[in-house]
Amino acid sequence: MIRTVASWCEIDGRMNNLELHDFQPRLGSFRDEILKGLAQAQKAIAPKFFYDKRGSELFEQICELEEYYPTRTEIHLLKTYSQEIADLIGQHGLLIEYGSGSSSKVRILLDAFHQPSGYMPIDISFEHMLQASTELAENYPNLDVIAVCADYTQDFQLPEYNKKLVNKKLIFFPGSTIGNLDPTEALHLLKQSISLLKTGDGMLIGVDLKKNPTILNAAYNDSRGVTAAFNLNLLERINNELDANFALDSFRHWAFYNQDQSRIEMHLVSLKEQTVIIEQTPFYFSEGETIHTENSYKYSIEEFQKLAKRAGFDSTHVWIDPNNLFSIHYLQVR
Ligand code: AVJ
Repeated sequence: MIRTVASWCEIDGRMNNLELHDFQPRLGSFRDEILKGLAQAQKAIAPKFFYDKRGSELFEQICELEEYYPTRTEIHLLKTYSQEIADLIGQHGLLIEYGSGSSSKVRILLDAFHQPSGYMPIDISFEHMLQASTELAENYPNLDVIAVCADYTQDFQLPEYNKKLVNKKLIFFPGSTIGNLDPTEALHLLKQSISLLKTGDGMLIGVDLKKNPTILNAAYNDSRGVTAAFNLNLLERINNELDANFALDSFRHWAFYNQDQSRIEMHLVSLKEQTVIIEQTPFYFSEGETIHTENSYKYSIEEFQKLAKRAGFDSTHVWIDPNNLFSIHYLQVR
C-alpha cells in the first residue's frame, strides 16, 4: 500500500523538486510490537523505536560525544573518499539512503557527485524525514528529492522515478545501523537491497569494526549519561504514546560488549520488583529483570565482506581510518 501525501510542488509553492511517499510504517506497529515484545520471556523492544522526536535529538547528541567515535570517524572517511565514491557512480546517479535521519552525511556525497538526478531518503520517522528532505530540496534545487516514509527492514518497493535519466543507483546505509540486525537479518537486508538494484549498481555501507572492548564499552556508557537518557527515553515514549505507567526512576541503563556474540547489548534494568500497566495489560518485572533494547553487532572487514558476497555483491572497495575503528564498504551488485 502506498499513499503519496504530496507530490512535486504541493508541499511548498516555491519548490518543484520534492515528492513524498508515505507507506505509513508507524500506524499500529508501535503498540503491537511493544505489547508483543514485553510479553516474551526475555522482554525486548526493537531499537527502531528509539527515534521519536526526543530520541532523535538525543541520538544526535550521542554522535557528538567524545566517547562515541563512529559518527566523526565515518564523516572523516566520507570526506576523504567522496570523490572516489562519486567516480564509481558516474554521472546522473540516484542516491537512496536508508534511515536518513537528519541527512547530514549524504550532503558530503551529494556535493561530490557528478550531476546526481535524484535523492531518495527512506526513513521510518515521518516528521524527521519531512523536515530534513524539505531543507535538502531547498538547498539542492537541481536535485529531485523523493522522500519515502517506510520501514526498510520490512520488504518494500521503491516508488517509480522517471522524471530524469538515471544511470547507476547507490544505496547509502551509513552509521553502522546494519549492526542493529543480527547477521542473518543483515544478510536478508542485503538481499532485499539487491532486489531494488540491478547489476553494476552499488551499496555504500558503514560498518563498525571489532576492537578493544574498553573502547566499545565507553562508547555506549558515556560519562555525560546521554546514552542512558536515550535508552530510558524509550519508556517515556511508551508512556507518551500509549496508555502506560513506566516509572523512569525505577529502571536504569545497562550496556556491555558481549564478546561471544560480537555485539554491544543495551538493556533497561528494573531496579525493583514492579508491575507496569500498558493498555490495561500488566507486565511483571522482578528485581534485576531487563528489557533488551538494542544489539549493535561489530564485524571484522573479512566477516562483513563474506556476508556481502553471500548476499550477491562483489566487495570492490573498503575504506578504514588509521586507528581501525570504522569501515565503509562499497559493494557492487554482481
Ligand atoms: C545507530 C545503531 C548505529 O549502535 O552505535 C548509539 C545506536 N545506540 N548509542 C549504534 C546507538 C547507543 C547506533 N546505531
